[in-house]
Amino acid sequence: MRVLSGIQPTGNLHLGNYLGAIRNWVRMQDEMDADSQCFFFLADMHSITVHEGREQRIRNVRDMAAALVAAGIDPDRSVLFNQARVPAHAELCWLLNGTARIGWLNRMTQFKDKAGKDREGASVGLFVYPVLQAADILIYNATHVPVGEDQKQHLELCRDIATKFNTDFGVDLFTLPAPIIPKESARIMSLRDGTAKMSKSDPSDMSRINLTDDDDAIMAKVKKAKSDQELLPETAEGLTGRPEASNLVGILATLTGRTTDAVCAEFAGKGFGAFKPALGEVLVETLRPIRQRFLELRTEDAALDAILDKGAAKAAAAAEPTLRAAYDAMGLMR
Ligand code: TYM
Repeated sequence: MRVLSGIQPTGNLHLGNYLGAIRNWVRMQDEMDADSQCFFFLADMHSITVHEGREQRIRNVRDMAAALVAAGIDPDRSVLFNQARVPAHAELCWLLNGTARIGWLNRMTQFKDKAGKDREGASVGLFVYPVLQAADILIYNATHVPVGEDQKQHLELCRDIATKFNTDFGVDLFTLPAPIIPKESARIMSLRDGTAKMSKSDPSDMSRINLTDDDDAIMAKVKKAKSDQELLPETAEGLTGRPEASNLVGILATLTGRTTDAVCAEFAGKGFGAFKPALGEVLVETLRPIRQRFLELRTEDAALDAILDKGAAKAAAAAEPTLRAAYDAMGLMR
């Protein structure tokens, strides 16, 4: 079993990243047996699709490394690194650009969302972004990729690229990865709009809970979260057509390891005036220790750089045989 996943080091780690992906990374790391390996990385090469100044980009990578360690990624057990330190990702991406089809990339909903109306003005990097993502996964022959629901299409594309490369060059080089998507928290929604996903790029900070938010800010955001006037139903079925209510109940269920039915049963007949403080409490208690560790770690630049350097050396060694085989399969002499 080879587990791999990545996160863009832009802005803050938020509750959607944490519940949709990072918590699963930590679980998979903690349940790993001796034959398995976990690779977690900061997708800084992907983050060039968002304009950022030099100093900020450097800060973002260290901050996200600190956030992952604070959330439970152990750099002694998992390979933790940033993409830019392992050039094999970019090299394999270029080779796979010969395999990926424009028609496939044209179907990517994330590109359509991010490019918006001005597709002609979007960067080429944004368009080929999913090919680099495929390279990230295939270079390690990852078998399991824990991600949120929004990455499912990119994973399908990755499998298509792997299959076509293997077929075109008559090799059995790339392993087809399986997405690992949590059932309950695959899509954490915005606190301001239950139909939009919680995201770093939402201009309203009230739409998300950041790892850096203090106890008061978390409670205030939960209390101001959009909800509805109805009472909570006896079972989760009664949440149909109530996106904000479903999201808040889903978050509490995920945090407490219960089903949405169990949470509904507890609050049945009560309004959000009673529900929100309970949710806020659990969030505060869950995030406080992570935030405290993060605030300590993020001041230790040298230690963070050392973690990333060490991780990159391990990752580069693991990537090398696949990269060499890909060049060889294509008849490219290195
Ligand atoms: P990114 O940085 O947008 O998000 C990191 C992870 O968080 C998940 N996520 C969510 N899950 C549930 N609800 C939400 N509201 C929510 N928002 C984000 C994402 O699904 C993701 O798992 N392209 C990727 C990074 C990447 C990658 C890879 C992932 C690059 N190469 C290779 C896996 C394998 C991205 O931008 O994630």
